[in-house]
Amino acid sequence: MALAERGLKVIFLLFLPLLSTSCATTKKSTVSWCVVSDAEEQKCLDLAGNATAKNVKGTLECVRGLNARDCMNKIKNGTADAASMFADDIYAAGFCHGLDLAAGESYNRVDGINYYVVAMARRSSSDLSLLEMHERSSCHPGMRTTVGWTVPIGYLVNTSQISVGEQCNFPKAVGNFFGYSCVPGVRDPQHDPSGINPKNLCEACIGDENDRHICANNHRERHYGEAGALRCVAENLGDVAFVKHNTVFDNLDGKNQESWALDLEVEDLKLLCPDGTEAALNEYEQCHLAAVPANAVVVRVEDKCRVWKYLERLQNVFGNAAEGFSLFSSADYGQADLLFSDATHHLLRVLGSYTSWLGPTYTTMLQAFECEGFC
Ligand SMILES: *[C@@H]1O[C@H](CO)[C@@H](O)[C@H](O)[C@H]1NC(C)=O
Ligand SMILES: *[C@@H]1O[C@H](CO)[C@@H](O)[C@H](O)[C@H]1NC(C)=O
Ligand SMILES: *[C@@H]1O[C@H](CO)[C@@H](O)[C@H](O)[C@H]1NC(C)=O
Repeated sequence: MALAERGLKVIFLLFLPLLSTSCATTKKSTVSWCVVSDAEEQKCLDLAGNATAKNVKGTLECVRGLNARDCMNKIKNGTADAASMFADDIYAAGFCHGLDLAAGESYNRVDGINYYVVAMARRSSSDLSLLEMHERSSCHPGMRTTVGWTVPIGYLVNTSQISVGEQCNFPKAVGNFFGYSCVPGVRDPQHDPSGINPKNLCEACIGDENDRHICANNHRERHYGEAGALRCVAENLGDVAFVKHNTVFDNLDGKNQESWALDLEVEDLKLLCPDGTEAALNEYEQCHLAAVPANAVVVRVEDKCRVWKYLERLQNVFGNAAEGFSLFSSADYGQADLLFSDATHHLLRVLGSYTSWLGPTYTTMLQAFECEGFC
C-alpha cells in the first residue's frame, strides 16, 4: 500500500512538468489583448482577422484600456489576458500585482536587452570616480526617466552614496548630494507640487537661446534629453552625463549638425564604470550602470504557457511576413510601436519570473524606490 502510494507520487511528479509545458491544463482558447490607443486597437483587430483567415489555432480579442496601469488591473481581474509593456511597468505589474511575463522582444536576435545606461565624462576630467560623486556636477536627460533618474539615482542609493532616510524625499537627497546638476522637469509642478525641490538641480541647465525655459521638461531646454545631457558634459557644465550607450554615436560624425556636436570627438570622452574604474566608449557591455530590458508581454502567472504558445503561432505566420499583415510593423497605422516595438526581430519565451527578464542590476535599482510606494 505504502509502496503503491509512493509509486503514484513518483509518476505524478514525473508528469507534472510535462503537463505544464504543454499547457494541457487550460481549455480557454481566446487571448484578449489590452490596447491603449485607436491605432493599436486597429492593428489588433487586423491581426485577429488575419489570424482567423490563416487558421491560426485560438482567437484574439482586443480590449480597450486607458494606459498601462489600467491594463495591469484588467489582466489581474481577468477582463484582459495580455499586454505589451516597457521595463518600469513590467516591474510594477510583477511587484504590485503579482503578474508575470509570457514573452519578450529581441531586437538583436540574441538577447532581450534594449539598451545600456552609461555614465559619460570628458576624458580630461581626472580624479573622477562613480564611487565618489559627492559635490560633483551631473547632467540627466529628464526627471523620472529610466536613463536620467531611476537608474543613476538607484545606483547612488545602492552604493550608499545617497540616503533618502525616512522622508523618502529623493529630489532633496539628490540636491544635497550633487554640487549642481541639470534634471529637466525637476521643478515642474508635476514633479514638485509644493515648489520645494532644490534649485541646484537646475543650475547646469541653460534654457533656450534667449535664456528662457531653463530646466523645462522639453527640447526648449537645450540640455534636455539624451543628446542634451551629452551636450551638457561636452560644454563642461557637468562632470558626468547619464545617457544610453548609443547616444554618443547617434550624435557624432555629422549626424547632429549643432556646433557642440560637430566639435565633439570620440577621443574626448570616456565611460565611468560602477566599480569606480573607467573605460573607452565602446566598452559599454562591461561598463554600464544597468542593462535595460526590452518590452515584454504581461500575463497572469497561470497563462504564461498558454499565451506564449499562441504568440509562437502568430509569429510563425506573421513574424517575418514579406507580404500581408506584419506583426512587427506599424507602418499602416500612422504610429510607431503598436502591440510590439517596430524594432523587434522576434519574440523570446520568458520561462523564469519577471525579475529574470528585468535582470538583477536593473531590479536592484528599481527596488531603491520602494519607499515611494509606487503601487
Ligand atoms: C489583414 O491585415 C490587413 C492589414 O495588413 C487588413 O487591411 C486586413 O483587413 C486584414 N484582414 C482581415 C481578414 O482582417
Ligand atoms: C477590472 O478592472 C478594470 C480596470 O481597473 C475595471 O474597469 C473593471 O471594472 C474590472 N472588472 C471587474 C469585473 O472587476
Ligand atoms: C549594490 O550594492 C551592493 C553592495 O554595495 C553591491 O554588491 C551590488 O553589486 C550593487 N548592485 C548594483 C546593481 O550596483
